[in-house]
Amino acid sequence: MKDLAGKHIVLGLSGGIACYKAAELCRALVKAGATVQVVMTDAALQFITPVTMQALSGRPVFSSQWDPRKAAGADLGAGVGNNMAHINLTREADAIVVAPASADFMSKLLHGGADDLLSLMCLARPLDTVPLIVAPAMNREMWANPATQRNVAQLKADGIHVLDVGQGDQACGEVGDGRMLEADELLYDVTAFFAPKVMAGQHVVVTAGPTYEAIDPVRGITNLSSGKMGFAIARAAHEAGARVTLVAGPVSLPTPRGVQRVDVKSARNMQLALDMYMDDATVFVSAAAVADWRPASASDQKIKKDGSGHVPTLTFCENPDLLAGIAASERAQSGQLYCVGFAAESHNLLHHAQTKRARKGVPLLVGNIGPATFGQDHNALLLVDEEGVVEFPHADKLSLSRLLVADIARRRAIWTTASA
Ligand SMILES: Cc1cc2nc3c(=O)[nH]c(=O)nc-3n(C[C@H](O)[C@H](O)[C@H](O)COP(=O)(O)O)c2cc1C
Repeated sequence: MKDLAGKHIVLGLSGGIACYKAAELCRALVKAGATVQVVMTDAALQFITPVTMQALSGRPVFSSQWDPRKAAGADLGAGVGNNMAHINLTREADAIVVAPASADFMSKLLHGGADDLLSLMCLARPLDTVPLIVAPAMNREMWANPATQRNVAQLKADGIHVLDVGQGDQACGEVGDGRMLEADELLYDVTAFFAPKVMAGQHVVVTAGPTYEAIDPVRGITNLSSGKMGFAIARAAHEAGARVTLVAGPVSLPTPRGVQRVDVKSARNMQLALDMYMDDATVFVSAAAVADWRPASASDQKIKKDGSGHVPTLTFCENPDLLAGIAASERAQSGQLYCVGFAAESHNLLHHAQTKRARKGVPLLVGNIGPATFGQDHNALLLVDEEGVVEFPHADKLSLSRLLVADIARRRAIWTTASA
């Protein structure tokens, strides 16, 4: 299912160069399954035409409070034909997203100004059912100005969801804070906004990817884990309202928005990172494929082929068992930290998952078939706990992660109460 299926978004554009990004955002929202109704200020009409926005949204654009047309597709009920676009346009909306939100528009919102359709519509929206999300966009001096910062603080206090700004090159040639986020970032934030905040107040630590165990400075032993599952879990936990730390083995995946990422190489590096970040963690998801063994002594110089036919012999020693160690910690044992392990197996998944759960001492073990998941965008999961087994059938990793995170939140609450 698409992320925004069934959602109706009113997309407001106020006057700023970033209107060009609103076209991309509109397209992205529609692709994500939302229906989009565009409303533009007079200033926005100077930057991008309503023709473009109509073509991308598939609906006529509104910009004047005097516009007598009916909104396409909306169930206007008693309001049909009443010339009140500022009322009718939002009654079916799941959210109003103003992107870009100009400095002027935010100041207007703050004071309850209502001399154009977009501000009038925001003022007239039902506060309980139609959240307002704004994406500021402006020159860095405008953004840093105390007047703007005061307005942002007050808008947040009024319950308006003010998104972050980006940083970097600006259309005016200056460099700094104030750019509007990119369309994909805005889509992420809007999608996350709708996610139930079942992990609010939690600190979730996730490990992901393979580890790399050096043989010498140029060679090493690793495995086929891509990190995609762990990264998707980190994203889902962040969407669900958690603070998330992602300890990632050597992979080149983009960091999910809002997630703190710590890059590591070997299992021992991973252990050091976990020692640093686990202090106040409330959930630990061990999705990384941590090497069980490492070369007993890595050479500090490249091992050379000398032409004699001599083949070097590798001897191994055991790596620390990160999950078992954390599961045995005082915080995990006293119910302050809920631990979830992963097992990537090649066969006999249920048996191995059950055995591993007992060996690691964790309340929940998630089994998946390694060769079927490594590097893939899809997976299927087997959740093994004390009571039995639950199957999450084949789906994309983000959808599975959202289900898993919701399930972990529910289990953690029960576990914490039972352990107290
Ligand atoms: C070329 C140009 C670019 C502008 N870019 C921005 C901008 O990025 N952000 C902003 O807050 N205002 C910007 N402005 C100023 C707004 O367009 C102006 O404050 C306008 O009154 C906003 O109207 P609105 O809030 O009703 O859309 C720009 C003005 C011009 C002429």
